[in-house]
Amino acid sequence: MSAPRDCAACGLCEGRQNVVCPDGDPLSPVAFVGEAPGQKEDETGRPFQGRSGKVLDALLEEEGVSRSSIYITNTVKCRPPGNRVPTKEEMAACLPYLEEELQGRRLIVALGRTAARDLLRREVKLSEEVNKVTKVTVRGREIDMVLTYHPAASFYNTRAKDALRETIRIARTYLEGRGSASSTGT
Ligand code: URA
Repeated sequence: MSAPRDCAACGLCEGRQNVVCPDGDPLSPVAFVGEAPGQKEDETGRPFQGRSGKVLDALLEEEGVSRSSIYITNTVKCRPPGNRVPTKEEMAACLPYLEEELQGRRLIVALGRTAARDLLRREVKLSEEVNKVTKVTVRGREIDMVLTYHPAASFYNTRAKDALRETIRIARTYLEGRGSASSTGT
């Protein structure tokens, strides 16, 4: 269950064009969670369609992972005005949808600090935690989770891009049924 197209759970409904629905395989063992839709996503109703999406798609392709084999969603499903970071209240309003979407996944990939903080409910220091597989509790069940940089961070930062590439390699092991919390990256 994702957010309904007429969702009014928070104030973001006022400025949006579209509720941005998840993309990819609804039954994939691996869910990528971004921050929030931007302009292109708001226009199309699909996540990661703009510049960040192009980077993500290119890295997925380089690593032999098809976008259609993973599940892609965001912490909030409506675009915050001016692409600001969603507030705690907005993320809390959308959390029931996100938690529902994450049921039964084997790995959650948090793309960026906002998604990581929303799911872990604590501050995170990405430079220290990137690509270390940890556990997150979603509705009482533990799921493996890996924190990584948002694709936007790799526009000008090759280390962030390399880290994201490594994250995709970790995700691939889960898609192939080989992943576990014992695997660690860079
Ligand atoms: N950035 C995100 O975090 N999510 C999107 O869907 C697009 C850009």
